[in-house]
Amino acid sequence: MRYALTLAILFAGLAQTAAAEQAKPFEWTQEKFDSVAAGKIDEGKKLAKKFRCAKCHNKDGISDDIEIPSIAGQRATYMYKQMVDYKNRVRENKDMFKAMRKLSEEQMIHISTWYASLERPPKVGGERLLVVKVCDSCHEKEVVEEDNLIEVAPILSGQIRQYLENSMQAFKQDERSNDLFDRMQSVTHKLNDKEIKQLARYYGTTDIEE
Ligand code: HEC
Ligand code: HEC
Repeated sequence: MRYALTLAILFAGLAQTAAAEQAKPFEWTQEKFDSVAAGKIDEGKKLAKKFRCAKCHNKDGISDDIEIPSIAGQRATYMYKQMVDYKNRVRENKDMFKAMRKLSEEQMIHISTWYASLERPPKVGGERLLVVKVCDSCHEKEVVEEDNLIEVAPILSGQIRQYLENSMQAFKQDERSNDLFDRMQSVTHKLNDKEIKQLARYYGTTDIEE
């Protein structure tokens, strides 16, 4: 009996250690913000070529596939964090895990800086739900810059519509949980499927023919 109990405690401890090692949550520090601010566009351009991001994200970073997000004009802070999350499997995706496996964090920062400098397609627009004001407070470039808020959330405008919808559903269904502080998990739990579709339509670019 005592033996079994000891074993149980031992295994509980092991399970905890394994979980802690598997999920390394990203943490923003001033040092990381400074590194992103010092990212080099030219260096990033070379690295993006070397690591063949264009194979899936296209030469200009603008996707034509509903499952692949556009990364042109995306915030560098956000991109860098996602790349780290894919590498650590905190955000699960096989293709992106493979693509990130050999990249150092410094290389990720340069690549993010290069894509952030590229032109993004405009949003086309749809019905503007009231909740958009809330979304914009974290997401929309002009609002965030004007309020001097920390810029870590992705720019939604001009993204592939289906991808936006899928990401919101992934947060809602707890398939994607890499947002520190659970902001997106709690926002999406309050939205119904129709609202999620409308929001994706409002922020996204034109539909892609399948
Ligand atoms: C084999 C195809 C493939 C390659 C190569 C690839 N990606 Fe991706 N990338 C994807 C897919 C698919 C997703 C969406 C995955 C998901 O749903 O989480 C994605 C997502 C991303 C995201 C998240 C964007 C967002 O809005 O959350 C970033 C950033 C990114 N890729 C950057 C890169 C960079 C930089 C490279 C090159 C070093 C690269 N990818 C190479 C397929 C690829
Ligand atoms: C309190 C701030 C905040 C609010 C409010 C907020 N978001 Fe987010 N959102 C974030 C952050 C931060 C992320 C990135 C999380 C991560 O690190 O993966 C994100 C991620 C997303 C993504 C994933 C995009 C991608 O490229 O993968 C979508 C889509 C999104 N938000 C839509 C919305 C919509 C629509 C609303 C309003 C209903 C909203 N968000 C409200 C902070 C916010």
